[in-house]
Amino acid sequence: MRDSEFDFIRNLVYERSRINLGPDKRQLVSARLGKRLRATNTPTLGDYCRLLQAPGADQELGHLIDAISTNHTFFFREIAHFDFLRDKAVPEMAERSRSERWPKFRVWSAACSSGEEPYSVAMTLAGSLPSWPWQIEATDISHRILAKAAAGIYSDETVRRLPPDTVRNYFQRGFGPQEGNHRVKAALRERVGFHHLNLLEGEPPFKEPFHVIFCRNVMIYFDRPTQEELVNRLARRLVPGGYLFVGHSESLTHLTHGLRVIRPAIYQKPFGS
Ligand SMILES: C[S@@+](CC[C@H](N)C(=O)[O-])C[C@H]1O[C@@H](n2cnc3c(N)ncnc32)[C@H](O)[C@@H]1O
Repeated sequence: MRDSEFDFIRNLVYERSRINLGPDKRQLVSARLGKRLRATNTPTLGDYCRLLQAPGADQELGHLIDAISTNHTFFFREIAHFDFLRDKAVPEMAERSRSERWPKFRVWSAACSSGEEPYSVAMTLAGSLPSWPWQIEATDISHRILAKAAAGIYSDETVRRLPPDTVRNYFQRGFGPQEGNHRVKAALRERVGFHHLNLLEGEPPFKEPFHVIFCRNVMIYFDRPTQEELVNRLARRLVPGGYLFVGHSESLTHLTHGLRVIRPAIYQKPFGS
């Protein structure tokens, strides 16, 4: 891959998604673009760069971001967040809802990837919030991964790590052509709204604030000013006293924000802000 090609792709990806591809990502970019070259029938990377500059390249730009971004995720990743949600955030907000008159407990899974995160939240809430309605909004920049998330279908291998009770309660076993797959039951899927959203562009399509926001394992791909902008954007969407969960490798200590540290990777919006 030529320097000029890498710089072009790097700048374009940054402009569109704010994903920051350092020089160490050159090999990875080159490998991942191989797929796009084959899919678009483009002989060389130089041709592919020209294709991305041609009028009407918007769809291919979407595919480029898809190919570059990392979607790795799994059910109940960083389990301490789900324990905190069940044992602290839910009871606390349920208590406050009596005076605040919040109609629903609201959670946002920002950068939800293929859905394991919002469905893990849904399973946690289904087990701990029987009498207060709840709603989860889930967003990602990738159309392809959102379609997978909305379908809610996972392989045996993905589901195998879950306790048997969880699988029995919240999944339907596939049969016929779906043998070996498991689908999240409709009662849970209906509680999760999936939306396309670039976290750094425009305003999210939600009016009501959230009690909890999960934004995990995406900030690592952004540079510091972008991380700071994102944390402040997310904080504006929380109710006072609401919680932000970030990935355990994504400490916010070096950023300027008004949130309080509660535990590693758990932050709270102060009351009165
Ligand atoms: C590694 S996954 C994390 C999934 C999940 N939050 C977790 O912790 O398991 C990162 C996700 O961030 C999404 N993403 C990357 N840049 C984004 C942006 N600017 N706006 C919204 N989503 C973005 C990717 O498409 C990918 O699905």
